[in-house]
Amino acid sequence: MTTATLTAVPQASSAANRRAVALWLLGVALLVFLMAMVGAATRLTESGLSMVRWEPLTVIPPITEAQWQAELDAYRASPQYQQVNRGMSLAEFQEIYWWEFAHRQLGRFIGLAYALPLLAFALARRIPEGYGPRLFGLLALGGLQGAIGWWMVASGLVDEPAVSHYRLATHLSVALILFGGLLWTALDLLDTRTTTDSRKLRSLSAVMLGLLGLQIVFGAFVAGLDAGFAFNTWPLMGDRFMPLGTFGATWWHDLHSNPVTVQFIHRLLAYLLFGHGLILAWRAWTLGDETLRSWAVALVGILTLQMVLGIATVMLGVPVALGTAHQGGAVALLGVTLVLMHRVWHPAAR
Ligand code: HEM
Repeated sequence: MTTATLTAVPQASSAANRRAVALWLLGVALLVFLMAMVGAATRLTESGLSMVRWEPLTVIPPITEAQWQAELDAYRASPQYQQVNRGMSLAEFQEIYWWEFAHRQLGRFIGLAYALPLLAFALARRIPEGYGPRLFGLLALGGLQGAIGWWMVASGLVDEPAVSHYRLATHLSVALILFGGLLWTALDLLDTRTTTDSRKLRSLSAVMLGLLGLQIVFGAFVAGLDAGFAFNTWPLMGDRFMPLGTFGATWWHDLHSNPVTVQFIHRLLAYLLFGHGLILAWRAWTLGDETLRSWAVALVGILTLQMVLGIATVMLGVPVALGTAHQGGAVALLGVTLVLMHRVWHPAAR
């Protein structure tokens, strides 16, 4: 049976079907949000390299003493054990193992929470007309994300006991594209329209999304290079706004691989994003649409919270809880930006 035959259905565009599919997509988006936070905690507790094999179909953790010992033995061959955790006890190993195990299991659970209802909706011919390719495309992207996760982990299992920050940025970006795709599709189905039609607001919201995307990539660079530890002062970095040596002769390399430069750019983009977010919210507020106003307030609230979380993360030396909350804040900010953007990009016909 092809995607087209599964989705070409008589009652496909009924309101009830659209609502059911939208609610399911929102539920999966929520799981992806949770997954991003578990992913951040996994990285911040330095647990991500504890499982040195990729066995996508294994769902049972080690149980017996012998099984645990075998996992630890496999880990002992990794650069992280050799260079960072030499002599680690089984109890200490289990602690980091559980984080990575939870991250992988949650990934599998999300895969099932998406694939099974998708199949059920398709077989019951309840996928609204025109949405089949998009829904199956999101399934493929989810599968790709699992493979990217392993590609990222694999970069930390040879020579250096750390994953490539480019691969970390790819993994985070695809997670957020998935989150955005789920949310946007749900909003399309729920048909959330505003009566306001402002070209200016459309451009402002698109620029907001672009800046946010860039900021998230730089956030992943900060995380992947441990650049949060480069300076723990704010608003200055040490005693300067821009530390000496931020851009050297190899400025192009500094731009994406020097921890000091990367932290500096992440701060700069945050100020830009904050200023731009305030202008966008103000503009949305003045249009007079009540729901849009609520989302404008939500945008300012989450943006402010995200700034405070980032600053606290830097100043307190990247504690696990704050780093995790900062990652969650980025996803929430993306969510609010997309909802606002969706409303202004899909005005109701007057
Ligand atoms: C709207 C503003 C901001 C957004 C959207 C944002 C987003 C992000 C994202 C997505 C990450 C990656 C997290 C991860 O991969 O675990 C990150 C990391 C980080 N951000 Fe921000 N950030 C913002 C503002 C700030 C500010 C103002 C600061 C400090 C002045 C800051 C400091 C950090 C630090 C230190 C990390 C690394 C934390 C770690 O190692 O887990 N951020 N940010």
